[in-house]
Amino acid sequence: MIKKNFGEEGAKLTADSHDWALHRVGEISKELGIDCEYRILPGYNVSQYTKGTKEHADEIAELKEEIPICQKIGLDAKFVEDFKIKGWDGEPDQRDAAVFGRQATFHPTKYLNGVLKWLQKQPNFQCYTRSRVHTCSEKGLHVPIIDTHIGKKGVKVETVTGRTVMCNHAVQATVVPLQLLSIIAEMEYNRTYCIAIRIPKGTVEDALIYDNADKYKYVRMTQCDDKDDYMVVGGCDHAVGQEDEQQQRYKELETWTRERFTKAGSVDYKWSGQIFEPEDYMAFIGRNSGNDRIYIVTGDSGNGLTHGVLAGKLLTDLILGVDNPWAKIYDPKRKTSLLKELPSIVKHDLQVNAQYKRWAQNDIEDIASLPKGKGGVLNPTGKLPRAVYKDQDGKVSEFSALCPHMHGIVCWNDDEKSFDCPVHGSRFSKDGMAICGPTKGGLNAWNEEGKAKQEVMWEQAS
Ligand SMILES: Cc1cc2nc3c(=O)[nH]c(=O)nc-3n(C[C@H](O)[C@H](O)[C@H](O)COP(=O)(O)OP(=O)(O)OC[C@H]3O[C@@H](n4cnc5c(N)ncnc54)[C@H](O)[C@@H]3O)c2cc1C
Ligand code: FES
Repeated sequence: MIKKNFGEEGAKLTADSHDWALHRVGEISKELGIDCEYRILPGYNVSQYTKGTKEHADEIAELKEEIPICQKIGLDAKFVEDFKIKGWDGEPDQRDAAVFGRQATFHPTKYLNGVLKWLQKQPNFQCYTRSRVHTCSEKGLHVPIIDTHIGKKGVKVETVTGRTVMCNHAVQATVVPLQLLSIIAEMEYNRTYCIAIRIPKGTVEDALIYDNADKYKYVRMTQCDDKDDYMVVGGCDHAVGQEDEQQQRYKELETWTRERFTKAGSVDYKWSGQIFEPEDYMAFIGRNSGNDRIYIVTGDSGNGLTHGVLAGKLLTDLILGVDNPWAKIYDPKRKTSLLKELPSIVKHDLQVNAQYKRWAQNDIEDIASLPKGKGGVLNPTGKLPRAVYKDQDGKVSEFSALCPHMHGIVCWNDDEKSFDCPVHGSRFSKDGMAICGPTKGGLNAWNEEGKAKQEVMWEQAS
């Protein structure tokens, strides 16, 4: 897919940049003495079906086709007939695999804490948490046609509490940028699920495992205690706010694991996260469209750990005016590769627009029958959707259900106890606070002013 959209040179640059990033984490953790479980290990891509079936043969044929392309762009890839993963002692018999050398794994939180400790000892480093940014704007005027800046240069960053930071350059590493459309319309927004399940030490090979299903499952290993390791098993993605049954997804991951790895023990942790899929499968890292000094990093799909590291190099080079060959593939302003995916962008837009039909939807009957610890959208008149949450003591919080980004109607996510927007994936806590962009602010209070505003919007929309 990357070769189709970016050509062979683009695919090679992508492979080089990821290769650089995953080795850079190793170098940094070694240099700074960070114990973050960094290991170089292989990746195995296997069929989801049993060897001997037609489905297995079809998937393996697809995997085999990719190998020469991967080798040509410099990846350490080979196909191994009859390859069996150590510890995969259950069903299906997965034999055969595309084997990728020179992969790596690490514990991102341990790594980040180590880097932060080092940064705190550096002169002029300052880190402010709990400082939500509301606006990031450039001083002067940027004229995109001639790519020229008129007036004073600099960036003004404003927080929701009214604080202002003036700087020469700003990077929005906010997982998704704070903007209305542009990049926002070029991505799909998915939730993804994970479990950490115990496995006796040494019984499963320490490797990265992916099956070849359309909605694939994957496996990583991490430390647990003297007796066991954890297998982190993930997958079961779906569009944000467009499906529920989250508990069944955790169950599906657990069943998938137990069927294949019969020594698996207890599930100690389970959680979900948000994944941003660019339509052309490439992250957006570089100058924000229409800006000269504001940079963005987004569209990580399941590769944000390597993207984050390579973004550190690429954005530093862009700011310092150093040529970097990766710049063109990750350029947020690129158009060619996105045009190649036009049919799927149109399909996605239609699907996204269909989410506005929730304007007339009622998710809960009334507040009295809403169980404690649950939320939902109440809309008895069909034009004033209200997000309602009842806490464990029975106290009710009410907000406008209109997402402040572009007025999608939020949905209750019972797993995370949040309100999620099905249009572009913004998320809000049960107290209405913004927890994931592109929204810049939280849900509006459900008061007379809020209701009046919604009445006007309803009139305009209908
Ligand atoms: C289950 C799961 C498994 C994954 N597995 C892998 C993997 O194996 N390999 C891989 O490479 N990637 C993987 N990923 C993807 C990777 O974890 C993410 O892409 C990556 O963590 C994104 O990093 P980030 O720094 O861009 O965003 P985040 O880690 O989300 O950080 C963004 C930060 O910005 C802050 N923020 C947001 N808005 C504002 C604002 N307005 N003002 C101030 N601060 C703000 C947030 O509070 C947050 O601290 C996985 C993701 C999930 C969910
Ligand atoms: S995130 Fe765009 S409308 Fe909600």
